[in-house]
Amino acid sequence: MRPERIHVDAELHAGKDGRGAFYLGDAAGTLEALLPEYAGKIKVIYMDPPYLTGDKFYMRVRVGEECWRRGRGAMQVETFADPRDRETYLRYMRRVLALCRELLSEEGMIFVHVDYRLNAHLRLLLDEIFGEEQFLNELIWVYQTGGRSTRHFSRKHDVILFYAKTERYDFDLNAVKAPPRAPRDNHMRRHVDPDGRTYRSIKVGGKTYTYYDDDPVAPCDVWDDLSHLQQKDPERTGYDTQKPLTLLNRIVRCASRPGEWVLDPFAGSGTTLEAAKRAGRCFIGIDRQPLTLNIARRRLNGATWTARGGDNAAEVEPVCEAEVMPGAGFYHVCLNRFEVAIPGLPAAAQLDGVDNWSVGYLREDGYHVMEDDVRTRRHGDLRTELRAPAYAGRLAMCVSDVLGRSYYYALEIPGWK
Ligand SMILES: C[S@@+](CC[C@H](N)C(=O)[O-])C[C@H]1O[C@@H](n2cnc3c(N)ncnc32)[C@H](O)[C@@H]1O
Repeated sequence: MRPERIHVDAELHAGKDGRGAFYLGDAAGTLEALLPEYAGKIKVIYMDPPYLTGDKFYMRVRVGEECWRRGRGAMQVETFADPRDRETYLRYMRRVLALCRELLSEEGMIFVHVDYRLNAHLRLLLDEIFGEEQFLNELIWVYQTGGRSTRHFSRKHDVILFYAKTERYDFDLNAVKAPPRAPRDNHMRRHVDPDGRTYRSIKVGGKTYTYYDDDPVAPCDVWDDLSHLQQKDPERTGYDTQKPLTLLNRIVRCASRPGEWVLDPFAGSGTTLEAAKRAGRCFIGIDRQPLTLNIARRRLNGATWTARGGDNAAEVEPVCEAEVMPGAGFYHVCLNRFEVAIPGLPAAAQLDGVDNWSVGYLREDGYHVMEDDVRTRRHGDLRTELRAPAYAGRLAMCVSDVLGRSYYYALEIPGWK
């Protein structure tokens, strides 16, 4: 049968590992819409906004089973372009940062990731919105990836501007202590205790200070211990500008506690959301690039989360054929055919144009996913049959193509009037 295309506001996923939401849309508009529910409730905001380079960014999109398995022949899709006009950009960022301040709780903090071009501008903007006295750190994240320059010193760091909303901010440095990489300064006397542990001691003003070599140490404001993603890093999603999980783990863990809200208004590949999910924090992500929802469906798998704004392809009409077969306690749904035009590709064969799909139920609050299938490197071929337990609600399915466009359908159950 050809199922009936429907409009869906929210796609709800249920799981045990964390809770949150992902919004496909403009950052400023979405932050504004979040105010009534979340003003004063967000504990930490991290943002890695577009910079002012005028550069274009891409994602390597895998199309079809072969490409997922072998990793060859992926398609380059433009994901976003950095703006060039500084005035418009700063006006927009002023609005975003002011909204972020309203969303933060009194104990909350914000981390704004910038490069050398934007540092000065955004520092002044943050001073204006949060107050100079709320500035906590200019964090320097040092990495070795990328090319080398001969015309000037190679630029091998980003800056993360760190502000608190009020002086009551709740920051836990102990949560991000790590084993030392090298023994402490050796101007101190070295000793070995009865358990064989080495320590250093120094006497100052009649008092002896003791430091064990294996005591965890807190990071300072230069982070040179967190490497950028390598070319073949398994963490890579293919999304340009993706940041490593280790970086976001540090930020999320020092600035929030389990159960608190973490927000990223320019979420991209969803690194902040995954870090929050892993650390037991609640997460909210926003991005206006449709491909980011496909990545979120992978990275947020296992959590209870809602996607909004995903029904973004009203003007595209794929050819879709599906069949529902009632079984014992379940409905089995077969996706028999899905043909959708992908610009730059010859007609995608069979299900090659599909990145992921799911079956579920339509209820008052949206489409509840019961079972889904997402292509991965280990599992490049999509299942053509999914099942939903026989529950209340109208049976439905969602199919998302390789460009991040999602199509929702209501399914008729045979024999139902
Ligand atoms: C530098 S990337 C973020 C990368 C992210 N930190 C990660 O680890 O993948 C910036 C993101 O901002 C998004 N973006 C740009 N302008 C936006 C806007 N006005 N509203 C929402 N998202 C926007 C882009 O689509 C892009 O994904």
